Amino acid sequence: MAVTASAPGKVILFGEHAVVYGRPAIAAPVHGRRATAEVVPGEQGAGIYIVAADKGSSYPHTAADESLALAARLLLDAVHRRDTPPDLTVTVRSTIPIASGLGSGAAVSAALMRALAQAMGCPLPDDTLNALVYEVEKRHHGTPSGIDNTVVVYEQPVYFVKEAQPAPFTIGAPFTLAIADTGISSSTRTTVNAVRALYECAPAHWGRVFNKIASIAEAARAHIIAGRVGELGPLMNENHALLQTMTVSCPALDALVEAARAAGAPGAKLSGSGRGGNMIALADGADHAKLEAALREAGAVDVVFTRVE
Ligand code: PMV
Repeated sequence: MAVTASAPGKVILFGEHAVVYGRPAIAAPVHGRRATAEVVPGEQGAGIYIVAADKGSSYPHTAADESLALAARLLLDAVHRRDTPPDLTVTVRSTIPIASGLGSGAAVSAALMRALAQAMGCPLPDDTLNALVYEVEKRHHGTPSGIDNTVVVYEQPVYFVKEAQPAPFTIGAPFTLAIADTGISSSTRTTVNAVRALYECAPAHWGRVFNKIASIAEAARAHIIAGRVGELGPLMNENHALLQTMTVSCPALDALVEAARAAGAPGAKLSGSGRGGNMIALADGADHAKLEAALREAGAVDVVFTRVE
């Protein structure tokens, strides 16, 4: 009998990169893009065997360089089964594009650990799962803020500050985002390191930039709670301009941002680590079909609409 579990993708609405330096950020799950894991009994004595279906690869939980194998080992440690692993085969699939700022790494780890824990008869509380997925992220991405694992595990919009408990966050009025993919994959580690290099050259300057981003995220939180959706557009535009100065945008992202604004979106910005990946546009007040057509015309390889509620 198969056991399945899943986790959604995520988008960062405000505050990426500055969040690594302790400033607040806002992010939301993308329910329409998910990672799923299915667990079935495996061969006797085989331990946990992982099938990464989209990549066409498979390996045991002992594989050294695979982040899903690391996730399985961390789970075994958490349930005190490292020396007595169960014989299970777990197949992971995802509709979240890889290395595109939508949190695919955190989502596949979360789905895998959740499904395996259930199959082993010891389902994990979300707090424990969140801490385990963060551990995988840290070992694989260097210095992540923890925002990805938090959103994909709790499946709620979050106002996030590194190392703080995620704050409860009510959405005064739901709103819709268009998410458009440049099709360019980009490494979070590389962009985070590039921003760190800038910061180390001129900490006072970049500290002020991060503070401006923090003020934008604070203002956005107040507007979202109060249901003042129209106020979010200009804040997205301001946040994008600051990310451009941090060298994390790129011509493909800028083209999508411009196209979204020209097609009537009240605001647009890159989302995630940048230099590729996805951009988001506020779609309330814009004609969705026209917006999608304009984004595809400007080079988007995929456009999804997601409701934040
Ligand atoms: O591109 P993503 O989804 O990995 O998002 C990275 C967000 C950053 O703020 C750039 C890094 C982080 O760890 O928060």
